[in-house]
Amino acid sequence: MSGFVEKPEPVQVPGLVHLHTGKVRDLYQNEAGDLVMVASDRISAYDWVLPTEIPDKGRVLTKLSLWWFEQLVDILPNHVLSTELPPGAPADWEGRTTVCKALRMLPVECVARGYLAGSGLKEYEESRTVCGLALPEGLEDGSELPGPIFTPATKAEVGEHDENVAYEEVARRVGPETAAELRQATLAAYDRARDIARERGIILADTKFEFGHTSDENPVLTLADEALTPDSSRFWPADSWQPGRPQPSFDKQYIRDWLTSPAAAWDRTGTQPPPPLPPEVVEATRSRYIEAYERLTGTPWS
Ligand SMILES: Nc1ncnc2c1ncn2[C@@H]1O[C@H](COP(=O)(O)OP(=O)(O)O)[C@@H](O)[C@H]1O
Ligand SMILES: [Mg+2]
Repeated sequence: MSGFVEKPEPVQVPGLVHLHTGKVRDLYQNEAGDLVMVASDRISAYDWVLPTEIPDKGRVLTKLSLWWFEQLVDILPNHVLSTELPPGAPADWEGRTTVCKALRMLPVECVARGYLAGSGLKEYEESRTVCGLALPEGLEDGSELPGPIFTPATKAEVGEHDENVAYEEVARRVGPETAAELRQATLAAYDRARDIARERGIILADTKFEFGHTSDENPVLTLADEALTPDSSRFWPADSWQPGRPQPSFDKQYIRDWLTSPAAAWDRTGTQPPPPLPPEVVEATRSRYIEAYERLTGTPWS
């Protein structure tokens, strides 16, 4: 079982058409036809959108993505148009609303990995490959790869796992030219971001990008969604990196640990939705998101 524990009702705003309630973001279209993306404080773990929110998470994700888009702007155009609140929008949308170009999204989760973890580690342990790419013997949990690799996945519905696919499958879905462009763009953005994070004492182990095409006569491949946040990336403090065990990370680790602890009294493999999070888990998670923001951008949260 999986999905939303409680699916929120969309906020109605005059002049905006609600398009979609995602796991984390709510999407609207404004009268100009642009996309209004509102990041919520929702958090997902183990394929569930949890019933408890993390205060400020939507603002942290929004500000961090905007900062990263700027760091990448000379190598990749992005979808951001403005951060102005649409007229009539609730005041609490401030800081978590991005008006974007409505793109024709490509159905590929563009993942770059420089280190072995997560589904990459799982596949490596079974076959010494990740997304069909052969890797050397002797790598372990958290090992640095010989070089960054493009490990695409297909996007799953809420409650399903993304599925890693071979590059050939991407080429089949989007055409060989676009597939090559996606790989090149993903690896170029990863390289830049990895270097920036490293200067700040953070390892960018892997990250996921989403791209779309503008709907002009000459479609331009454009970076969309969120970029390089703790929701879309594995960030590890460099000073405690030690391959051979799971790495401490700036994300949902507290939540995963608590959900699988006896205190939660929850069976991950059963049919019951996860329980609400206790305040100390919420606070520890909020602090991790804010710390990631502050360390990466070098600016205090508020
Ligand atoms: N510029 C864009 N144009 C169209 N769709 C976009 C754009 N940027 C992001 N999206 C889509 O908006 C949604 C963001 O909400 P999210 O909570 O991440 O949803 P999901 O549960 O689908 O991952 C994603 O489905 C993403 O593909
Ligand atoms: Mg998403």
